[in-house]
Amino acid sequence: MSAPTASIPTVPFREMLRLRRQADRVAMLLDVPRRHGPIARLRIWGGLIHAHVVTDPGLAHAVLVEHADAFMKGLGLSYFMRPLLGNGLLSNEGDPHRKQRRMMAPAFMPKRLADYATTIAERSEAAQRAMPDGARVDASAAMMRLTLEIVGATLFGAEVGAEADEVHAALTAAMDQLGRTLRAVVPIPPTWPTPGNRRGRAAVARLDKIVYGLIEARRRSPVERNDFLSMLLAARDEEGGRMDDRQVRDEAMTIFLAGHETTANALAWTFYLLAKNPAARDRLEAELDAHLGGRTPALADLAKLPYALTVFKEAMRLYPPAFVVARRALRDVEVGGHLVRKGELVIVNIIGMHRSPALFPDPERFDPTRFAAEAERAIPKNAFLPFGAGPRVCIGNHFALMEGHLALATLAQRVRLDQPPGAPDVEMDPVVTLRPRGGVPLVVRRRPVEAPAP
Ligand code: HEM
Repeated sequence: MSAPTASIPTVPFREMLRLRRQADRVAMLLDVPRRHGPIARLRIWGGLIHAHVVTDPGLAHAVLVEHADAFMKGLGLSYFMRPLLGNGLLSNEGDPHRKQRRMMAPAFMPKRLADYATTIAERSEAAQRAMPDGARVDASAAMMRLTLEIVGATLFGAEVGAEADEVHAALTAAMDQLGRTLRAVVPIPPTWPTPGNRRGRAAVARLDKIVYGLIEARRRSPVERNDFLSMLLAARDEEGGRMDDRQVRDEAMTIFLAGHETTANALAWTFYLLAKNPAARDRLEAELDAHLGGRTPALADLAKLPYALTVFKEAMRLYPPAFVVARRALRDVEVGGHLVRKGELVIVNIIGMHRSPALFPDPERFDPTRFAAEAERAIPKNAFLPFGAGPRVCIGNHFALMEGHLALATLAQRVRLDQPPGAPDVEMDPVVTLRPRGGVPLVVRRRPVEAPAP
């Protein structure tokens, strides 16, 4: 390793105080690069831990891609989320991670998407039908329900129907506990017998009962199915070995969790931005009317709905569901001429890059045309990272883009969602993902869409 020379500025203590208030954490992620540059050091937990905030495409590439093997996940995933996710892909490390990633890859290949697209469109149609004209909806809760249904059906097939409500309740309870833990200035370890941890463990036990039940039923059932669970059970490594039930449970739980809240937030923010930007919404509706004319969209339609995709991507630029990704250095490592020592954290500041004026001109403006074909090619490499990068890039990225695109097209064709008069701006709530604080209250206007001629 050549001697790294560049020194890293330290964020002063008075600025660090903002970390205590959840509401200020995003503002801080936006401020740190403006005040201190592309890499800055935070001393957290009384200086016990050093974290480097990296807000630069080249440095992000160095951490996530070039020196990926010098890092493991941050404490949130590797420690606090273990009881829920076990050794699933999101929290696994090293060789076991590489092996699992290879085994899981076929289930996420673009050619498998057709199997999932019909489910996504059907569930999205049901969601829009449940929105009567004039009703007030919380787009955040509605999108959470929708994406949970979609991931439940694509993961477990129809069987989960009866247990869906229980899964939802248990998963919400487990995530709420996790949220409380991670919101605290000094998080309490999940093994301590606090009332909150007990509630969290009870929720995980309820989830386990359901998931193991589904695995057992499926192992006994001879019928071939096109869902994730079948693929997890059928997956083989190079030696022909398969996953044991515990690993299948961990992977299923991981897909369940990673696969719904992120997409739900992206869609909720999308509808919020469309409500605030009527010109973009008009253009989206015109595209949907011209191409679909009332038909339920299918996978093959998406290529004809390019503007809808740019809307979804631009929403993820302004409100990236995974607003940071964190890593811990396994050894001393040089990152773009800066020394990161073994044990130190690196926070790749995705929202900071997405809202940087150097990378996205007039960054606060909602402008989907940034992602139109030509313009998108001009975006600096690794500046737009909603799915991360490198060997741990989101394995569900094609699925998520297709899901967001298809759900948006299906819903926006039938309903127009407006902010109630005088409604305040929705603030960001950075917990595990970037949630809208207090939800996204919107009013439904049904759109008169001509049914296609028979
Ligand atoms: C808009 C939606 C989504 C966003 C923004 C998102 C974002 C991300 C990001 C940033 C990572 C990397 C985390 C890191 O490097 O620390 C990741 C990993 C992952 N995501 Fe997604 N994701 C989305 C949807 C999905 C979906 C739909 C699924 C599954 C159906 C999924 C499954 C996973 C899994 C399993 C990993 C771990 C991959 C690994 O470490 O090998 N995600 N996601």
